[in-house]
Amino acid sequence: MENRVIIGGQWGDEGKGKIVDTLSRDVDWVIRYQGGANAGHTIHIEDQKHVLHLVPSGILHDGVQCFLGGGMVIDPWSLRDEILALEQKGIDVRERLQLSATSQLVMPFHKRLDELRESRLKRKCIGTTGRGIGPAYLDKMQRTGMRMGDLMLPRENLERKAIEKILSANEVLSQFYEADPLPAKVLAEEIVVLSQFLKPMIVNPYDALRAVRDGVASALFEGAQGTLLDIDHGTYPYVTSSNCTIGGALTGTGLPPRSLGEIVGVFKAYCTRVGNGPFMSELLGEAGDQLREAGGEYGATTGRARRCGWFDLIAGRYAADINGMTGMIITKLDVLDKLPRVKVATAYEMDGETLDTYPVLSEQLPRCKPLFTEFEGWEKSTEGCRRLTDLPANARKYLEFLEERMGTLIVGISVGRDREAMVWTETGVSG
Ligand code: GDP
Ligand code: IMO
Ligand code: MG
Repeated sequence: MENRVIIGGQWGDEGKGKIVDTLSRDVDWVIRYQGGANAGHTIHIEDQKHVLHLVPSGILHDGVQCFLGGGMVIDPWSLRDEILALEQKGIDVRERLQLSATSQLVMPFHKRLDELRESRLKRKCIGTTGRGIGPAYLDKMQRTGMRMGDLMLPRENLERKAIEKILSANEVLSQFYEADPLPAKVLAEEIVVLSQFLKPMIVNPYDALRAVRDGVASALFEGAQGTLLDIDHGTYPYVTSSNCTIGGALTGTGLPPRSLGEIVGVFKAYCTRVGNGPFMSELLGEAGDQLREAGGEYGATTGRARRCGWFDLIAGRYAADINGMTGMIITKLDVLDKLPRVKVATAYEMDGETLDTYPVLSEQLPRCKPLFTEFEGWEKSTEGCRRLTDLPANARKYLEFLEERMGTLIVGISVGRDREAMVWTETGVSG
């Protein structure tokens, strides 16, 4: 079986969780490689809803091994709670989940610093998920973070190390932010308890992923966030703090490029963004509200209303190019079912000039006004469609246009939130 990397093509929440769940039935490993509990991946199976933040979406298939790679920042409190909540639903997690010893720990002070930093920025804030992601990656990069492997230390050493880190963060909290310090001793003791719970799952990633590297076990890489939230290639500074693009799958696992296989981008049939920053094809007012209600566009992690707009071909092509996408999956086509007209941003107008390539610099993006191409809607339900030929003619025209202009084959179309609501199109929609 060919390996695949699933990457968000927009600003996250494209439906990656559903796609990973759908594709993980026959794989050996499902691997997360960046981000942390800022991710919210929702999967509906019959009448059960699962929202995963840290545990890979492959966990919902018996027999699939799951891995949290070294590129991640992991809040051990959240991880324990998520594991226990899944186990309460009858899903065995601890036998099938391995944690890279090189992943970073998100500590309570990271979350506190995330909140304080955001409130200081006021109107200019990023609109983070408040999960401590930026401060945890900052500690990683300045080489002061704690890693998952530290949880293997003898009790006294672990406690001492944790206290040291918390006391040092307390200095920043009290001196820079005039905030209350955190109880170092209490938290360090909690970490010792958490270490007992997590220790059996902590592994050396080089050994654990050997079979994937040797090509004898198959892997599906589960991206979190999306290309336009990438720290290097996204709408900086309104981004997350990791590489959500293809490079993250390499650095976040330590696997070589040959292990990646197909690179599949996931795009909504329209576009959403949660948090602040440029959104070139955004629909404000009633039109945006309608799309939000039709798509149930409220954040899986924070419950925030997502900003909504039309599919953006300029940004989409950029995402396909940056990642080297070998195919793409269009999700939530059904959300457009009732609309009399559907639009796509096909160019930007910036300072009187027409652009058909992505300008990259975030200072330029707010000056980009979208130029739309309009399509007749199909005004029929697509939810029951399972083959390309089941789709209404106008829906197919819309998809053919996206495929042609993106220059990337549409290999799948999601037409509902359930596992089965998929149309697979190995050779694309244009035939
Ligand atoms: P992720 O972060 O990329 O995994 O996406 P989220 O789970 O945050 O958001 C996608 C939302 O859309 C979830 O509530 C999914 O249940 C839902 N969803 C996924 N695919 C489809 C689809 O094809 N149609 C509809 N109506 N909902 C979908
Ligand atoms: P999934 O995996 C959508 C956004 C936040 C904010 C910015 C930085 O579910 O697609 P952070 O907490 O990472 O420092 O926030 O990134 N963001 C997401 N938006 N989906 C996500 O994950 C996101 N993870 C972070 O809203 O704008
Ligand atoms: Mg999400």
